[in-house]
Amino acid sequence: MYNAAITGTGLYTPPNSISNDELVESFNAFVNEFNQANSAAIERGEMEALQASSSAFIEKASGIKSRYVVDKAGILDPQRMRPSIPERSNEEPSVLCEMAVHAAKQALQNSGKEIADIDGVIVACSNLQRAYPAVSVEVQSALGIKGFGFDMNVACSSATFGLQTALDLVKAGTARSILLLNPEVCSAHLNFRDRDSHFIFGDVCTAIVIERQDLMTVSTYYEVVSAKLATEFSNNIRNNFGFMNRCAPDAESEKNPDKLFVQQGRKVFKEVSPMVANLIVEHLAANDLSPADLRRMWLHQANLNMNLLIAKRVLGRDVTPDEAPVILDEYANTSSAGSIIAFHKYRDDMAAGDVGVICSFGAGYSVGSVIVKKHVR
Ligand code: COA
Repeated sequence: MYNAAITGTGLYTPPNSISNDELVESFNAFVNEFNQANSAAIERGEMEALQASSSAFIEKASGIKSRYVVDKAGILDPQRMRPSIPERSNEEPSVLCEMAVHAAKQALQNSGKEIADIDGVIVACSNLQRAYPAVSVEVQSALGIKGFGFDMNVACSSATFGLQTALDLVKAGTARSILLLNPEVCSAHLNFRDRDSHFIFGDVCTAIVIERQDLMTVSTYYEVVSAKLATEFSNNIRNNFGFMNRCAPDAESEKNPDKLFVQQGRKVFKEVSPMVANLIVEHLAANDLSPADLRRMWLHQANLNMNLLIAKRVLGRDVTPDEAPVILDEYANTSSAGSIIAFHKYRDDMAAGDVGVICSFGAGYSVGSVIVKKHVR
């Protein structure tokens, strides 16, 4: 068995940002148009009028102020309300591959690794662009990496479950180092016509290099003390899109909103928050650590109030942004990438010996906790 460490991270942020005000203006234009077009039926009581959205609600309920997206114009067009992403030929890199390559190059650079040092690529994300071939194999080819690649999907917990998988591969000696990528084009599965959730997601890609400690060349690294994963089935976050949709006798069902992201936000909040806090506390105890030993928590970035509650349950007191950094205000929920963006942006100020936890949670339900310790040599 070898010891494994995180030696590099990377982040690709799409160039287009949408503010709450811009998103709400487009949503409300759609609502007005719909209500006008259906005014007679609404007056007869045969149909309910749609309600407007508001920036103030979005920020208060979620903490989200803006989100980055692959395509802005298509989302904000009230006639379209979904990103406009042209299909590409088989000879061109896929969108996910392109994002992953950007993030990968940064992670490789700050881990001091060459392409030849990487033995495997894992693409772990909520939404894979196609059925096959695996996006990871495409990324592997684009970067010229030998070895192997495979894709994983554990929704919002894809990155932490991918980290555990990469660790196991490195510890067992199957690979000297693994490049883990989390390309998330969440805007493509978001129903921008749904008032309850149209503001939730953004697009991004994160990358991590996990490697054998005896082969590291960097002076700063993060020992992975332990990882712990848990899942518990729930329908409260669900997307029924899949390859069998076209087989349903009712051809129209393919277009139903359940083929996009759907959630019972209140239930998720209530059920997942204690599950996550308990898992972190148990995980720390199993490693002879107490919550007071934590310098920082890089939590999944779905909802600010949820993160404040989880952190408070773990520490037994209110937390500061320094203890549990927030990136969802700028990025919104980027599914599996959220906790890794926080880790990428908020780790340089940690001192040698500081301990932190990267924690994801989401559909499944799924929860992943990864305890890391900073080392400087
Ligand atoms: N604009 C204005 N008002 C809105 C609105 C919008 N876009 N969407 C909902 N509202 C209204 C509702 O109609 C409701 O009004 P009422 O009280 O008069 O009935 C009120 O705001 C509260 O709605 P609710 O859905 O209960 O909001 P909430 O406080 O639970 O916040 C979420 C909604 C989704 C932000 C929140 O539940 C959440 O983030 N949950 C966790 C989700 C999560 O982490 N998911 C993981 C995904 S990976």
